[in-house]
Amino acid sequence: MIVEMRDVRYEYPSGEEALCGISFSLETTEPVAIIGQNGAGKTTTVKHLNGLLKPTSGEIFIEGIPIQSRQTAEWAKTVGYVFQNPDNQLFLETVKKEFEFGPKQIKMSKKEMADRMDWVAELVGLSEQLSVHPFDLSAVEKKFCTIGSVLMMKPKIVIFDEPTCGQDVEGNKRLKRIIRELEQQNILCITISHDMKFVAENFKRMIVLRKGSVILDGTREEVFKETEKLSSSYVSAPPITRLGQALGFDQLVFDADEFIKRFEVERK
Ligand SMILES: Nc1ncnc2c1ncn2[C@@H]1O[C@H](COP(=O)(O)OP(=O)(O)OP(=O)(O)O)[C@@H](O)[C@H]1O
Ligand SMILES: [Mg+2]
Repeated sequence: MIVEMRDVRYEYPSGEEALCGISFSLETTEPVAIIGQNGAGKTTTVKHLNGLLKPTSGEIFIEGIPIQSRQTAEWAKTVGYVFQNPDNQLFLETVKKEFEFGPKQIKMSKKEMADRMDWVAELVGLSEQLSVHPFDLSAVEKKFCTIGSVLMMKPKIVIFDEPTCGQDVEGNKRLKRIIRELEQQNILCITISHDMKFVAENFKRMIVLRKGSVILDGTREEVFKETEKLSSSYVSAPPITRLGQALGFDQLVFDADEFIKRFEVERK
């Protein structure tokens, strides 16, 4: 088991009960999306996976290890968290320094750091901008800079909190490539997103939260066919999937190519 949450409850100091008993387990490195309406508890949930928040009650295990048995700083090596807003995460004068900061803290060798930087910078599309000040990057590039800083740490688990916010088409394509690459490298990628088109195209497993509870957990087919439960959470399948459903397709489709193929089959 890579990640396990058992009946996790969390109350903010203000008294707001944000998580009302969250349980789920992630057994493989298949990328997983966490979805749900604003305030459902998505960010609060993932902040428990690297010790940023400590549960009011319940248990969390990362690779079988109880999360409270290590300091938050130690978990940073295993679980990388990319915040929703990159400005909360960037604080050095150049992209290169941002990329080197974490590895220096964990005393990564210079050789490994340099090799890793070549791979990371290329993957996030910033190879030509290593000497640029992060605040001179575009909003999309800033996001990729924070993703790069997290990947530099060789995490086993990566959490993206709303990575598509402010992304353009090219940015989404790059994100897709990153998610695939992480899966190939056996790094578990957990992504929070409101963008159902992006979710449907990139994730086969999804967990839906509503008011601090898990209401659905399964494959995208299992989740997207639960239209009533989804709408109670103000989530709906992407338009192409709904169009297929409206036309009475036997199987759900998640992109235009699948739609066309299914359309040919169904009209015979
Ligand atoms: N620092 C905080 N103090 C008090 N309550 C908070 C705090 N952060 C979040 N909450 C509350 O906890 C609940 C869950 O919030 P959370 O940010 O986890 O939701 P979310 O699903 O990530 O929402 P969004 O899609 O808007 O990012 C909400 O009711 C929110 O108002
Ligand atoms: Mg959030």
